[in-house]
Amino acid sequence: QRATVLLHPDFRVGEIDRRLFASFVEHLGRAVYTGIYEPGHGSADEHGFRRDVADLTRELGVSMVRYPGGNFVSNYVWEDAVGPVEDRLPFIDLAWRTIEPNTVGTDEFLQWAEREGIEPMMAVNLGTRGVAAAAALVEYCNGEAGSRWADLRIANGREKPYAVKLWCLGNEMDGPWQIGHKDADEYGKLAAEAGKAMRLVDPSIELVVCGSSSMMMDTFGSWEQTVLEHTWDVVDHVSMHAYYEELDGDRASFLGSGTAMDRFIRRVEASADAVAARRRSDKVITISFDEWNVWYLQSRFVGEKNLPLQRDAPRIIEDVYSALDAVVVGDLLVTLLNHADRVPVACLAQLVNVIAPIMTEPGGPAWRQPTFHPFATTARLARGTALDLRVSGPSMATTAHGEVPAVTAAATLDGPDVAVFLVNRSAEPVEVELSHPGVTLALGRGVQVTADHEPAVDGPEHAAAVAERHVSEVDGPASATGSTVVTLAPESWTALP
Ligand code: AHR
Repeated sequence: QRATVLLHPDFRVGEIDRRLFASFVEHLGRAVYTGIYEPGHGSADEHGFRRDVADLTRELGVSMVRYPGGNFVSNYVWEDAVGPVEDRLPFIDLAWRTIEPNTVGTDEFLQWAEREGIEPMMAVNLGTRGVAAAAALVEYCNGEAGSRWADLRIANGREKPYAVKLWCLGNEMDGPWQIGHKDADEYGKLAAEAGKAMRLVDPSIELVVCGSSSMMMDTFGSWEQTVLEHTWDVVDHVSMHAYYEELDGDRASFLGSGTAMDRFIRRVEASADAVAARRRSDKVITISFDEWNVWYLQSRFVGEKNLPLQRDAPRIIEDVYSALDAVVVGDLLVTLLNHADRVPVACLAQLVNVIAPIMTEPGGPAWRQPTFHPFATTARLARGTALDLRVSGPSMATTAHGEVPAVTAAATLDGPDVAVFLVNRSAEPVEVELSHPGVTLALGRGVQVTADHEPAVDGPEHAAAVAERHVSEVDGPASATGSTVVTLAPESWTALP
């Protein structure tokens, strides 16, 4: 099979915002406790945070981390998790039916992020709480001395404001599972008022209004339009969440997930632009794709519904990933790069233990899941501007998405440096002709991930063995003028700098 990818440095999608390589830490299962934080662990720093996890986070190339939820945020009282730890009371987190000890709260998280050079992205509770608590949290984080909440932060030992720039107005408020779920009008009005108040505290912040929890929600499309009508003047971004999985052994549809993500993004753009048209507004609402990943939600999470009340960081949704999942994650990143003009923010959900590229054992090692590799490589190589490619080639029939391209591609340009990302979703090798008229392309040694048919198996040894067999360095083709040929292995993801 053959495909052609036309590439020219003058044809551009847009600048890549580093926040495209963000992740997410929720108070869920072992993401915080025994994930990023485990006092007493051999690698713990003086603050109780695991150095081994922080080092892997750095290697992953994560620019920003969203916190504290997720569904968790919708019943969170942030004031209960600041100040002396011994005075903090545990509470029942209704989202995950877990006793949350409140040991890690806003200050601990923000100081961890600061020490690790990670930008924080915070969410406010618009489920069980409202305008005042949201504005107070912005003041606590970003306010200067001389007012109540900023002074409380200072009394708690932190003089300098944290200057948190990006804020989510709640989480998945369209979902009936959300504590304090609302219809689009109720939520839109609340988000507009909360956003207005938060901006009055700190006019420099950026706000994300909740879009749909998935493209399959009954309210998808109308939800975006209604909430944006209410919040148009105060928000900058609308959120998207999407998780993909192989259902009933339908491998082709799973490999085509990037096409579903692409359609979802285009539909959210269209919904936002329809509101702009109605309002005769030139404002462009961009997308915060603040939850995306492979998640075996239907197949594995089923047994975890009706969770018993648990304590001590239970193991919840600790998906174990295969090399196939890693290829799909690479392809989803290709889709995100191709929308760099409209998607400045994207969070791989989540960072550690919970549907995550990094796993840990309490008191034991931390390791990379197979999905770690395409993310780390893309975050490292995709810099500067995303190029607007033209890809032609074979297509693949899928049950879930109809015909999808068998080959997908993205490319970035940073000064003189080009990086190319190529995916072969089909079960046959494909010869790709990179056509770059008038331009010499010198692609160096890159990284390739190939899929397999082995079920994912838990544990650091298995993850290392999968990486050994399926993640490899590949030589770039010889430097060429006009056209370069690359052969892609079946079901593979390749990055060539
Ligand atoms: O990331 C896990 C959960 O998925 C989040 O809490 C929620 O926002 C989404 O449904």
